[in-house]
Parts: sequence; C-alpha cells; structure tokens
Amino acid sequence: MSRYLVTSALPYANGPSHLGHLAGAYLPADIYVRFLRMCEEDVIYICGTDEHGVPITIKAEQMGITPGEVVDRFHEIISRDFERFGISFDNFSRTEKPEHYRFTQEVFLNLFKKGYIVEKSMKQFYCDECSRFLPDRYVGGTCPECGSANARGDQCEDCGSWLDALDLLKAVCEICGSSPAPRDTTHWFLRLNAFQEWLEPWLEAHDNWKSNVLNYCRGWRNEGLRERAITRDLDWGVPVPLPDASGKVLYVWFEALLGYISSTKELFTKRGDPEGWKKYWFDPETRLVQFIGKDNIVFHAIIEPSVLHGLGSYVLPWNIPANEYLTINGEKISTSRGTAIWLTDYLAHFPPDPMRYALAINAPENRDADFTWDEFRSKNNELADVFGNFVNRTIKFAHKAFEGVVPEPAVEGQAERELMASIASARDEMEELLRNFKTKAACLRVMDLAREGNRYFDQSQPWKTAHTDRNKCATAIYYSIQLADSLRILFAPFIPFTCEKIGRMLGSSSLLWKDAGGENIPSGRKLGEPEILLEKLRKGFEEVMQPEDSRPESTDGEAGKPAIKETVSFDEFMKIDMRAGVVKEVDDIEGADKLFRLIVDMGDHSRQLVAGMKPFYSKEELINRKIVVLVNLQPVKIMGVVSNGMVLASDDGKGGVYLLQPGSDSCPGDGIH
Ligand code: 2FM
Ligand code: ZN
Repeated sequence: MSRYLVTSALPYANGPSHLGHLAGAYLPADIYVRFLRMCEEDVIYICGTDEHGVPITIKAEQMGITPGEVVDRFHEIISRDFERFGISFDNFSRTEKPEHYRFTQEVFLNLFKKGYIVEKSMKQFYCDECSRFLPDRYVGGTCPECGSANARGDQCEDCGSWLDALDLLKAVCEICGSSPAPRDTTHWFLRLNAFQEWLEPWLEAHDNWKSNVLNYCRGWRNEGLRERAITRDLDWGVPVPLPDASGKVLYVWFEALLGYISSTKELFTKRGDPEGWKKYWFDPETRLVQFIGKDNIVFHAIIEPSVLHGLGSYVLPWNIPANEYLTINGEKISTSRGTAIWLTDYLAHFPPDPMRYALAINAPENRDADFTWDEFRSKNNELADVFGNFVNRTIKFAHKAFEGVVPEPAVEGQAERELMASIASARDEMEELLRNFKTKAACLRVMDLAREGNRYFDQSQPWKTAHTDRNKCATAIYYSIQLADSLRILFAPFIPFTCEKIGRMLGSSSLLWKDAGGENIPSGRKLGEPEILLEKLRKGFEEVMQPEDSRPESTDGEAGKPAIKETVSFDEFMKIDMRAGVVKEVDDIEGADKLFRLIVDMGDHSRQLVAGMKPFYSKEELINRKIVVLVNLQPVKIMGVVSNGMVLASDDGKGGVYLLQPGSDSCPGDGIH
C-alpha cells in the first residue's frame, strides 16, 4: 500500500466552472482517486478555490461588486457544482481562509531569511490614464514567444509561456486601452536561478511524465531560470509580511500553490488531528500527484518544486498528469464568446454520469479533445444500450423467472469459466491503465467487458432455457448477476451514481477493486426492484439547455429569418472595434476546402485572418480588396492557423455571402461605426 496526496488545480473563484475545467483537472483526478480508494490505498484528495490575484479583481470591476463578494459567490457555485458531479474531494478549501494567509506569509519569510527572496526595484507598466500600476492581466499585448495577440502581463493564453509584462510587444492597458509606460516600483523576487542546478537532474529523473510536461520543462531548461517578482501592487491578496511593504501583496501563483498545503492542514484540523497533514507533506514515501490543465505546467513542474525544495524536506510532485484542452464544436472554449457549457446549466437538466462517461471516454489526455452534443448523445446512448441494458435485462430476468432471488448455479461450463477469466483480466488491465493515468483506455476496456456480458447473455438464451433446462437458465442468470456486480465495481470510478443504484439492486455496496471477478452475490439473496439506470437521448435533446430568449425562432414560413438577438447596451456595442483593411495576401489552408488565410493591411500593422470565402471569391478577386475587419475579437485557431479577428460579410439569402466594403475613399485602419 502506498500513500497518495492527489490535488486538482485550485480553480479561480472568478466564474462558474465549465466542461473544460471538469474534463481537464477534476474528472480525471476524481476517477484516479476513486480507483485508489477502491484499491485500499491511503489517499487524500485536496483542492479549493483560488481567490486572489488579478482574475478576481478584474471580475469584481466588471460586476461592480467587491472582490470579496466575487469570491464568496463563485466559491459556493463552484463547490456545489463539483459536489453534484461527484468530484470527491476530501477537502475543498479557499485561499481567503486565515490559515492560508498565515501559512503563506510564514513560507515567504522562511524563503526570505534563506536568501531565496530578495527585494529589488524594478520597472512595471503604469497607466497614466488610470493612475495605477498594471499587474498581470491588467496589461495585454503580443506574446514575445509565439506572436499571439492574446498575451497578458503574466502569461500567454495561447502558448502558455510565463511572461514578464515588460517583454510584451504592443502593450495596452486592459482597463482603458491606452499605452502604459514603465515606472519604478519595488518588489520581492524569487531567485529561481538559485534552483536551476538542483532542478535539472530532478526533472531528468522524471522521464515517465507525460510528454506535454516534459517538453515544456525542456524548453525552460534551455532558456534558464530567471528571478521572478512574486509580489504585486494590489490591495487584494495576502499582504507581504514585511515592514514598509504596504500596498504590496503576494503574487497569486506564489500563494495559490501553497494552497494545496494549507487545504491539507485544514482537512486534518477538521479531523481533529492537526499534525496529521505532516505525513502527507513530509514523508518521502508520499506520492504527490497533481492534476492540472496544460496552461499550469510551468507553475507545477518548475515553480512549485523550486519553492518546496527551498523550504526543505517537503514532498515534491511524483507525477503531474497535465491534460490538454477540451474544445467545443472545434473551438477553444471562450467564456466571452459564449462557447462555454456551464456545469450548472448541464446539471439543471441532466444527471452527472452521462457527462462523466462522455468526458472520460473522450478525455483530452494526449491531445485536445472535441465535445459536441451529438457525440455526447451517442456516448450516452451507447452506455445505456450496452451497460444499462445488460444490468437491466439481468435483474429483470431474475425477477421474472426466479422471483427476484439469485438462483443456484449448476456446475460452471466453458462459457462461465471464460467469462470469469475475462472479468479478471479486464480488472488487471484497467488497474495498470488507471495507475498510469490512462483514463480513456480504462473506460474503453470496461465497456468491452459490458459488451461481453451481452454476448454471454445472448448466447446462453435464458428466455429459452427457462422452459427447457432450468439448471442452464439458473447458471446463466447467476453468472450474469456476478458480472453485473463486477461491472458495478469497475465502472464505479467513472459513473459512481449509476453504480450506486446497481448496488441497491444487487444488495451490495462494497467497492473493492479486488472483488471484481469474484462471485460476490450469493445464491438465495433477494434482489432489489429494477430501477431505470440510464435514459436514452433523442436528437436535439440539448435544446432544453438554451435560455428561452436565446433560442432561435422557427425559420419556417415566408420570412424565414431568425429572431432578433438579445438587446445589447450602447456601451456593449461600443466595445466592438471594426476597421477598414486591405487584403494583401491570400493562401489556401491545407485540408480546408472553404477557408483562405488572408494577410490584411490595417494601416499601422498587418494581421492574419482566416475566412470562409473560398466558395465565393477567387484569390484574384480578393487581392487588394477593401474589407471590414472586426479587430478586437479574441484570436482563435482554425485548422491550425490563428485568425486574429473576423472578416465581415452579409448573407445573400441563398447560402452565399458578400464581403462588406468600406467607402471607396477609406484607408486601411479607418474606423467603422
Ligand atoms: O489556472 C487556474 O485556474 C489557477 N487558479 C490554478 C491555480 S493551481 C494552484 F496554484 F493552486
Ligand atoms: Zn489604463
């Protein structure tokens, strides 16, 4: 038996959680933890909300409420939704707790005394218009690493690089849009360079980690580690615990990572064992497994180990199974563009298990995975047809032919021996897969076993033998019931709610991995009534999730136009920035028969756009054409090419489009109102 400390990235309490969050860092961790518990490992699962930093203060400004109100509101929503999805944290804390403040300040002072943190004066962007420094996400610009226009002061949203705001190209104040200028300020720096020599061999020793994590770390090693400021000029956060540091707080990433430890401490305090956390964080036998999304790799593979090493004797990550992203209908999830599917909305209409199954079997483990409602429906129906149906027909048959009592089997034949051996090998293969974070393959494997169950049932033909050979019939039902129980166990990490229902029918609630493959349900036991396990879904079922007023009107009838969309305020409209541009280059995009890649002159810069113009315009018609471009749309990757804005066009009513054209006198960059 080993000891496991499993964590999921602390979600920012600046909004509700969506499917991307669930698929990335929470569901895979929950499946892993449930599995470990079933193997009787010593495991705790730790998380909490990340309640500081610029993501929170920006949200508060947008909502017109205080940061404290923001985090109170979203902590509740996030924890409630995770709980309803069955994410089985042992503790879900908050970084606003006093214990977290105390602990992070203590860590800061410890590193400061050891000389790993030093005070320095530095330049930071300051916005004259707003009369304030612009930490982190308050400044936006172009990423110096990948060229994306989607970079913020601390990180690039597209390539995940951890940035220094002053390195951003074309920096702008995210509040007022003006260009900020560097100004002197004082901050405390973590001397990451002091850890480089230790970190390199430590990372080398973890060559079993996922390739996305290893590749990211290699990039960092080549670049070398620099000193990084770990304090900010903000009035929301954990204050820097030094004299003369008023107005300075700890950088959110520095203290949020320590949230894993303060949440563990809180758990053991609640359990009445205030020292209990130490064996998880100090005993080198503990396996610290940290589930994160790929944008968090640098913080968990470089910063956190450095900090913990600097503190001395803490347990370091044993594995960091970082997931890739979930896309929705082929697009990156964007809360501003409304492509997110919120857990709250889903749960208002559907039970958690079908989504758990769909996201487990299509997990973004090694590459981005795409979610569509059609695919979801097909996965849900597959689960109902294969697994639900097997359990249901077995229990129903036992009620019909044996008055709901588990029958006495005759001597097992070849088919039964094979069936029991199959269960044992599925159990062992799944164990190997789950221990190695291959959730998707493990989920596929248990579905195969359910398919085998249906084959066994079909081949045994109990509906015939019930009249011709009672012994054979009893044997088939007895073994089908044993398989139903093994499937209950092996499916439990993925769809725990359904498995609980099955447990009620079989009179069996124990969940031990090793019991799969055993004859756990004795003859003579009275079974519970069959319950509906999983409902099948019809095409279009997801429409119930759309808010009433955003559902398109029927397009039947003369006019056939969709309903006018929701009213926007003048201020909302004014956020839209449209400008005239001139097409300078047009290229095909490999594998895309409707798209062109355009390079457009915008006056003060040129930008790349992807437009679905190929069926309507030739390259010659497009070159030097004046067009209208929506320039402040969040960039998006289409068929591997970044589109930095959108070309505006009108429908011709027959499925074609016309490019909108600015006035003939207009110059590139002129505004459109
Ligand atoms: O990316 C995020 O949502 C961060 N709030 C994750 C923090 S993980 C750790 F530092 F706690
Ligand atoms: Zn400003």
